[in-house]
Amino acid sequence: MKIKGIEFIEFISEREIQEKIAELATQINEAYAGKTPVFLPVLNGSFMFAADLLKHITIPCRVSFVKISSYEGMISTGQLKTVIGLEESLFKQDVLVVEDIVDTGLTLEKIVSGLTGLGVNSVEVITLLRKKPAREKKVNVRFAGFDIEDEFVLGYGLDYDGLGRNYRQLFKAVGHDGPPPATGNPQSF
Ligand code: IMP
Repeated sequence: MKIKGIEFIEFISEREIQEKIAELATQINEAYAGKTPVFLPVLNGSFMFAADLLKHITIPCRVSFVKISSYEGMISTGQLKTVIGLEESLFKQDVLVVEDIVDTGLTLEKIVSGLTGLGVNSVEVITLLRKKPAREKKVNVRFAGFDIEDEFVLGYGLDYDGLGRNYRQLFKAVGHDGPPPATGNPQSF
């Protein structure tokens, strides 16, 4: 599959993703038994993961979305911008931030430090994908789905320049060591 001139191949199937999500949900149901956590999916990337994960959550819970962007094209700009903020009080709540992918951990750092200032009872993080830089930096993630290399991925909610979120499996860019170039040619999808 080619998106904006970059070749992508499938590397995690729909079945593998769904099996992993069921495992993660079991861990959460056990870890939060007797509590009513607030799930905080980070838009846009985590919308599919959050939807599938929440279908397996059997304990009482709330869901509230936040939106933060740190990427333009394929290279992190390092500039974080909150687009949609919190709409309900998280005071004394057990918050579970739901991420699609943790790369440098910058996004999480910003979210977690912001939440801590709101007087929450606890903040933990669940992510479907965790890249190598996050592991090297020991970014605090309680529940991680797949540990991957420092490679650019899309599908299952994740995009490249806005494209590719709609696939039910995950793809990775081929022919690049580390992150691919910041912009591809504006070719057809
Ligand atoms: P971080 O702040 O560097 O950890 O980046 C986290 C955010 O960057 C994620 O929530 C994604 O939206 C985006 N991102 C990081 N790596 C990728 C990737 O390989 N594909 C698509 N988006 C990515």
